[in-house]
Amino acid sequence: METLKLFYEDSLIPKDRILKTAEKIRPEIERVKDAISRGYDDDRASINLPDDKEMLKTIKSTIEEKLALKPEHLIVIGIGGSNLGTVAVQEAILGKLYNLTKPPIKVLYADTVDSYLINSIIKIIKPALKSGGSILLDVVSKSGTTTETVANFRILLNLLRKYRKEYKDYVVATCDRDSMLWHLAVKEGFTTLEIPQKVGGRYSVFSSVGLFPLGLLGIQIDDLLNGAKHMRGKCINGDLERNPAAITASIQFLHYKNGKNIVDYFLFSSDLESLGKWCRQLTAESLGKELDRNGRRVNVGITPTVSVGSTDLHSVAQLYLGGPYDKFTTFISIKDRRPRVHVPSVDEYSHLVPGIDGKSLEKILNAIFEGTKEAFRKDKRPFIEISLPDKSEYSIGQFMQLEMIKTMYLGHLLNVNPFDQPDVEKYKRETRRILAGE
Ligand code: PA5
Repeated sequence: METLKLFYEDSLIPKDRILKTAEKIRPEIERVKDAISRGYDDDRASINLPDDKEMLKTIKSTIEEKLALKPEHLIVIGIGGSNLGTVAVQEAILGKLYNLTKPPIKVLYADTVDSYLINSIIKIIKPALKSGGSILLDVVSKSGTTTETVANFRILLNLLRKYRKEYKDYVVATCDRDSMLWHLAVKEGFTTLEIPQKVGGRYSVFSSVGLFPLGLLGIQIDDLLNGAKHMRGKCINGDLERNPAAITASIQFLHYKNGKNIVDYFLFSSDLESLGKWCRQLTAESLGKELDRNGRRVNVGITPTVSVGSTDLHSVAQLYLGGPYDKFTTFISIKDRRPRVHVPSVDEYSHLVPGIDGKSLEKILNAIFEGTKEAFRKDKRPFIEISLPDKSEYSIGQFMQLEMIKTMYLGHLLNVNPFDQPDVEKYKRETRRILAGE
């Protein structure tokens, strides 16, 4: 299976400068390497998930057990790191329109407490429950105390209870073993799947958080993990020129230091939009920090944005090619696109857009992509390109692992802790205060 490729000739930073910065990452590379032998003991614990055979065995047997219930719908109840990775992989592999393709199991995501969203989910699953269909609830929460997740879980569990005497069989709780939700789930007799204590939400896609729902939908989770493992090897390479995480972290860091504090993930595939959103959370929550590792107030952070090609060229290209020089772009492309779809050869519409008769959409999108890169080049807008061999589990696994390790290296360069999120508490505190006062 092929490795993804990184092109950085257009980063507008000389190679020797990139490598000089990459040298500074060496101590962190050593720590990541060291963490590989330390199981789930270290903050970098997520990098060991692809090796965890025991976890995989438990997940696979749970999948088998739940498939025997012949579920029509899987409802993933979770938010942030507890669902973004799952949505990203599901849409990348199965497509954004998956639910409309009459799959054996449809998937719905209950993330926020938006009554329009949750009411729509209820409207979809109620008739199924009434007519004897089976619905699985996978409640995913590391802490087990996230307001949105608990509220949505209680609503949907209530509905399930109303229509199923044996409702317990249809609930999977994925959480930290020490959480209150875990203890409640055990008491209730729900199936429980553990999230290792040191694996934070945004680094958890290769744990039961992502693997259980993805495997249930038929995604090849072994390939996803193998891709991640393959990339992990590359990202701890001491030959820095061949280490894609060290190279990309250095380029992004140098641009940040030079005033380009926006990174745009520009993904040339509609099905990869949610992968961009996963990158956005990983970057924002890991690197946006008030304090550095020495407790000094620094207020650092790289602002991630997500664009989809070619759709968003009709939305943001004007700004990106005419606006301020405050952005650095990471293009994500797919080398081998299948299936092939062609524009008809010659017909009465031929004169509307010359040059597309009989061409495949792949060829047209490629022309737009090449044209976009050329315009960026001419305008001296810096970019790199990560080219995925295809849209397979192995490729997506590689990409996600690269991004996670790159984020760890950026944390090191920015001297911040990429594994915590202390400032998220600020709004949570206010919310709790408001809800308590009602
Ligand atoms: O990445 C993170 O740590 C966060 O986005 C969390 O995943 C999110 O806040 C949800 O938390 P929990 O999984 O505890 O419900």
